Amino acid sequence: MSAPHAVHKSWALHDRAVEVIPLATQTHSKAPREELREVEPCYLARGQGCRVFDVDGNEYIDFRNALGPITLGYRFPDVDDAVRRQLDSGIVFSYPHPLEVEVAERLVEIIPCAESVRFLKTGGEAMAASHRLARAFTGRDLLLTCGYHGWLNTMSRPGVPEAIRSVYSDLPWGDPAPFVEAFERQPDGIAAVSVACSYADLEQGREFLPALRSITQRYGALLIYDEIVTGFRLRRGGAQEYFGVIPDLAVFAKGVSNGMPLSCYLGRRDIMQRVEDVVISSTFGGDALSLAAAAATIEVYEREDVIGTLWARGRQLHEGFTVLCERFGAPARFEGVSPLGQLCFDPPELFLRFNAELLRRGVIPYQVCYPSFSHAEADIDEALAAMSEALAAMREDGLFD
Ligand SMILES: Cc1ncc(COP(=O)(O)O)c(C=O)c1O
Repeated sequence: MSAPHAVHKSWALHDRAVEVIPLATQTHSKAPREELREVEPCYLARGQGCRVFDVDGNEYIDFRNALGPITLGYRFPDVDDAVRRQLDSGIVFSYPHPLEVEVAERLVEIIPCAESVRFLKTGGEAMAASHRLARAFTGRDLLLTCGYHGWLNTMSRPGVPEAIRSVYSDLPWGDPAPFVEAFERQPDGIAAVSVACSYADLEQGREFLPALRSITQRYGALLIYDEIVTGFRLRRGGAQEYFGVIPDLAVFAKGVSNGMPLSCYLGRRDIMQRVEDVVISSTFGGDALSLAAAAATIEVYEREDVIGTLWARGRQLHEGFTVLCERFGAPARFEGVSPLGQLCFDPPELFLRFNAELLRRGVIPYQVCYPSFSHAEADIDEALAAMSEALAAMREDGLFD
């Protein structure tokens, strides 16, 4: 980049925003970092393929991908055309739209546990719906959770009554022992185990998920997968397809509609049928624009080797970064599998400086660097060249040797 990197307009907007929007954003992970005031683009104006452009006119190769939902790329023609076509006949209606049936049928074909499907807007609310169904179906209150399931299901923060907090227990990924102990303590009390894969230790799922499957079955509890990130990324059918361990219920969201807001809770028909008396209902649940985006996204996954590309580009990034870390003696690495690898620095504070150096050079990294179908090999090479310069600058400053 020839002109020096400047983000004045971004931060001017940010300073206006904090007067009227707490945290200046609706999404905690999008909050700009004060330490990066000179370099972080707080506001993005548009995207194209694997690139985004901020309000100051800077261009970046983006590995945040809107925090996961952009699996095909920004402004992916098939998806955007489908949304435009649907807009010509309406957004949301007084009775269901046929797309509800079409997309549900496609998901039943693709996702191993899916016999029935329903739609909402956000991942967190669909997880809450699956928890409600599990409690109604089993007649039990307790939930064992593992991983982040959205703000609605985050019980450790202020604002949650103790009575509600007391029917959740959050346990770590990877070791079935604490789950076994919880079931031994309350053999008839636990409605479900609700689990999101840990990205850095994803492969532990090979033993961990079968163990959860068998213990839930033994105690008459349900197994729920949060496939909000793993769905349409690890495999189309998510972790359940990848590991071959099938839950009773699951939630898919981010990757299913390439950025349009859609979440799907799905699973065994007998459990899903309980929505009738549980009452899970939302005005915008079946909006036709998001469903048109989902239908088009699913078609692209069918036609093109999207999953293979996410793995290949992720692998190129991981292998290239490993070589750079060896060359510069950088205490960093990618952990986990390549479509959703976790970028780890030791000590973790170095990651902030790495962000600064990369943003300056036109790359947006993230803790989980998401490749999209629109990242070409040349884009990854360009990002690696920026990473090489970033690590060189950090070493020059004596941050490692
Ligand atoms: C694994 C996982 N579950 C749930 C959620 C919550 O989804 P949403 O933000 O759409 O409510 C997220 C969001 O980042 C997530 O990564």
